[in-house]
Amino acid sequence: MTLCPDSTLSLVSPSMNTHQFYDGKPWKLGILASGSGSNFEAVAQAIADKQLNAQIQVLIYNNPTAKVATKAANRGIDAVLLNHREYNNRQAFDRKIVQTLQAYDVDLVVLAGWMRVVTSVFIAAFPNRILNIHPSLLPSFKGLHAVEQALQAGVKITGCTVHLVCLEVDSGLILMQAAVPILPDDTAETLHARIQVQEHRILPQAIALATQASLTTV
Ligand code: GAR
Repeated sequence: MTLCPDSTLSLVSPSMNTHQFYDGKPWKLGILASGSGSNFEAVAQAIADKQLNAQIQVLIYNNPTAKVATKAANRGIDAVLLNHREYNNRQAFDRKIVQTLQAYDVDLVVLAGWMRVVTSVFIAAFPNRILNIHPSLLPSFKGLHAVEQALQAGVKITGCTVHLVCLEVDSGLILMQAAVPILPDDTAETLHARIQVQEHRILPQAIALATQASLTTV
């Protein structure tokens, strides 16, 4: 028997052959990210490829050196640095985030590698309109270091999840998941890289799903 190291090997549910195209008014997205921004890029590319009827109004990032800021600049998308270290508490930080998103007239918020816990201030301003992508098959491996948690637990399949954000961390309604097998020689880096391939597929699809579902209306 040979193991199949095919990085595209996965199971996505619910299955969508292509991104569903909603041809009304484009949804106005606000994206929050802290890191390299590969998921930001995947959403921006799906929009550019006309696979997702949306526009990114603004990127908010909290880490001054985050590479995602350059990715936004390269696409001519406004990027606003809100550094949580400059706020007294989580609520004050979230109030500033909400003000910024409202100033940019955002309909739907996407946490794409946002490593901050959100408060009721944020959730109340965008009820059922905040999505998060997480690198595990929730409800397994919530919180930080989800890829390492899966490796340590010895599970044979992990993956990624897009879900609605609620007050309890990584616990809101699940919209879409992709399963990714763990291979015998996987390290956190190799496994995360394969999970990210699937994240880039499901995040634009889940945004399309959220914009069409009765969960939300513009
Ligand atoms: C993604 O793998 C995402 O699932 C994870 O951060 C990474 C960001 O990558 N998010 C979390 O762990 C949230 N709990 P990116 O900057 O390349 O999009």
